Amino acid sequence: MAEPAGLEIIDDGRAIALTLPDGSRQRFHAIWLRDNAWDEATRAPGNGQRLITLGDIPADTRIGAATRDGGLIHITFRPENRTIAFDPAWLASHAYDTVVTRKAGWLAPGIESWDASLGDRLPVADFAAVARDREVLAGWLGGVHRYGFGKLLGGPAEPGALFDVVGLFGYVRETNYGRHFDVRTEVNPTNLAYTGLGLQAHTDNPYRDPVPTLQVLYCLENSAEGGENMVVDGFRAAECLRDENPQGFDLLTRYCARFDYAGSSGVALSARRPMIELAPDGELRGIRFNNRSAAAITDVPYEHMADYYAAYRRLGEIIDDPAMEVSFKLAPGESFLVDNTRVLHARKGYSGAGSRWLQGCYADKDGLLSTLNALERQSRKVA
Ligand code: FE2
Repeated sequence: MAEPAGLEIIDDGRAIALTLPDGSRQRFHAIWLRDNAWDEATRAPGNGQRLITLGDIPADTRIGAATRDGGLIHITFRPENRTIAFDPAWLASHAYDTVVTRKAGWLAPGIESWDASLGDRLPVADFAAVARDREVLAGWLGGVHRYGFGKLLGGPAEPGALFDVVGLFGYVRETNYGRHFDVRTEVNPTNLAYTGLGLQAHTDNPYRDPVPTLQVLYCLENSAEGGENMVVDGFRAAECLRDENPQGFDLLTRYCARFDYAGSSGVALSARRPMIELAPDGELRGIRFNNRSAAAITDVPYEHMADYYAAYRRLGEIIDDPAMEVSFKLAPGESFLVDNTRVLHARKGYSGAGSRWLQGCYADKDGLLSTLNALERQSRKVA
């Protein structure tokens, strides 16, 4: 029997070709379709988890029949002789039959790189509003996901309030520095040793594997002169390096740097990871950049080391370029959240009478993205 128009069994039953509502023709393999079945014998109805392994599906699975009925595609798999319904809309949103040519360092959908011109798009929200209103929270978390950075204003100037920021979306990551750490220097103008030196933009804790993927810095006091915080998008810096020196970019992605920390007793952390990390298909996944904890680089072959160092130097220059930075001075009760796998942060020098006290802690992106996705699904259901 001939299949209806737009649905065809091809390659001797190893695949189907389906014309989707947008007119595109997409091929789907029999083994892929069978593995992605949503019938009750394949997926648990409650939690949606898969009940079978790939080994439970015959290796020679083929499509015996394919029909459209009631808006669904019904596919009969051989040799199991099992007929399973597929939603064409689900197939359309999971189609993989496309030729994708992307240059190394491409950004995942929903991620946008930025420089000093970020300006008005900077995700800023009111502390009380994100705690009270799920939509405001979703909007702010969405901005943090897109730009790797966000600010909260108008919170209480109380020690420990940073935990309420993390509680909006996830959990604190405790480290050897404790559940939180205090960044506090009493400024004494009679003692220039304590004038608060600036710090080059960096990602935190590159000597951990995995690194803490989020950091919160929460301001409790900030009456000193200077002491602004600034952030730089490491993804934009990597893109700039790639566009002006593809070979240098390639070296920083291909070879691992090393990072160490053994600054307190009983602690000897080390990690071996590239400064610019790509997924196997070239997606830009992470940046590790921290001059204070960079260890001897021993994984770059002799013939590439000089070029590696030139690329490392140039990446630092791009990061230090004022055209890349967004800076701001936090007032008591204000805080910011950075994606520590992407956005570098820095503190400018500070001096004069007054005090500066920030509390910081780490958390993780999986919790943030889970909360964001759940909030967005919920709001789609309501709509
Ligand atoms: Fe830091």
